[in-house]
Amino acid sequence: MIAPDMSKVCYTIADCINVIVEKFPDNGIFVESGTYIGNTAAFIVQALLKAKKKPRFYTIDNFKFTTVVNRQKQIDSLIDKLAEEVEDGRRTYDYNIEYLGVKDYITTIEEDAIRAISKFQKVDCVFLDDNPNAQHIRQELNLWIPKIADGGLIIGDDYSDRSIGEVYNSIFGSNVLTKTKRGGCYIDIDKYREYERDFCQYCGSYHCYCEQIR
Ligand SMILES: C[S@@+](CC[C@H](N)C(=O)[O-])C[C@H]1O[C@@H](n2cnc3c(N)ncnc32)[C@H](O)[C@@H]1O
Repeated sequence: MIAPDMSKVCYTIADCINVIVEKFPDNGIFVESGTYIGNTAAFIVQALLKAKKKPRFYTIDNFKFTTVVNRQKQIDSLIDKLAEEVEDGRRTYDYNIEYLGVKDYITTIEEDAIRAISKFQKVDCVFLDDNPNAQHIRQELNLWIPKIADGGLIIGDDYSDRSIGEVYNSIFGSNVLTKTKRGGCYIDIDKYREYERDFCQYCGSYHCYCEQIR
């Protein structure tokens, strides 16, 4: 099996691949939100196969490569060039997953990231790496959290971006975040659920006693 080009594998995933391999159940469901050219998807699938865990791997992208589009929107003269790049992007992805020998393990969902979430009931791991916009990520997290199976993981890129880091901290609290070396994070859903239970349903305080008094 040919390895993906490591220079294009997402740092966050490269940093926490051992956690993924250890925690991920055989035949579990892995969702990557934001495919791009598929190198990271191939890297994860290859690592799981090597650990003898057959993943059911889904990857979501609208293949509009919006991060690039946003940055270059104002430059009218580039619009035609961009249209070509967008087409090439999907072709490059299709080529890569076939070339890297992982095509049979990957289901590609060509759709908006938020809309695609409704296709899933329960997943074992979700890797958020699509639109790096704080509001968008908050919306995604709120939709994904109830769908993460016990023992599952949420992996987020761009945690080192201040506005995005604030979203993760405000939902999970800094004690349930594990930061990766180069700017991402992963959240153990079991720890998060324990932490959620520690907030009183009456007064909202951390570790309060009013529930016992009632
Ligand atoms: C940073 S790249 C993903 C990189 C990929 N995970 C990797 O590690 O190689 C972001 C991708 O998200 C996609 N994207 C951005 N906003 C999206 C949205 N709202 N719905 C679906 N895909 C989106 C872009 O088209 C782009 O391919």
